[in-house]
Amino acid sequence: MAVTRTFSIIKPDATRRNLTGAVTKMLEEAGLRVVASKRIHMTREQAEGFYAVHKERPFFGELVDFMISEPVVVQVLEGEDAVQKNRDVMGATNPADAAEGTIRKTHALSIGENSVHGSDSDENAAIEIRHFFNDDEIVG
Ligand code: CMP
Repeated sequence: MAVTRTFSIIKPDATRRNLTGAVTKMLEEAGLRVVASKRIHMTREQAEGFYAVHKERPFFGELVDFMISEPVVVQVLEGEDAVQKNRDVMGATNPADAAEGTIRKTHALSIGENSVHGSDSDENAAIEIRHFFNDDEIVG
């Protein structure tokens, strides 16, 4: 299995509750390595651009308002089959459906305030990483 990268966001509901370390620990224990990380307060333009694929969804406005409500931590994660590994440790989008031991089952509050975002494919991971990081900010 190839070593690949994925993109992760620790969302405002988690940073607000001081869970940056707890979430990162679960990512690391799943076999992912944090090769870039920064805490930012997203602008509305950044959030709307990042989630543009969802702009026709009824929850788009709520999603953008939430993502800019407080700081987030954006990260690049590296590991064998990183996209799938991250999705496995995050758990289902809706914490009510997430498996025991996953980040969302353990920490998420609702489908909107679900603590973490993770890329859904290698292709989108590359696009999402480029949204927030320059090459010289990623140290593998
Ligand atoms: P994320 O992986 O960041 O990608 C899109 C986000 O939209 C998703 O996680 C959820 O947090 C959010 N989302 C999906 N469905 C709903 C919904 N029905 N209501 C509010 N937010 C949602």
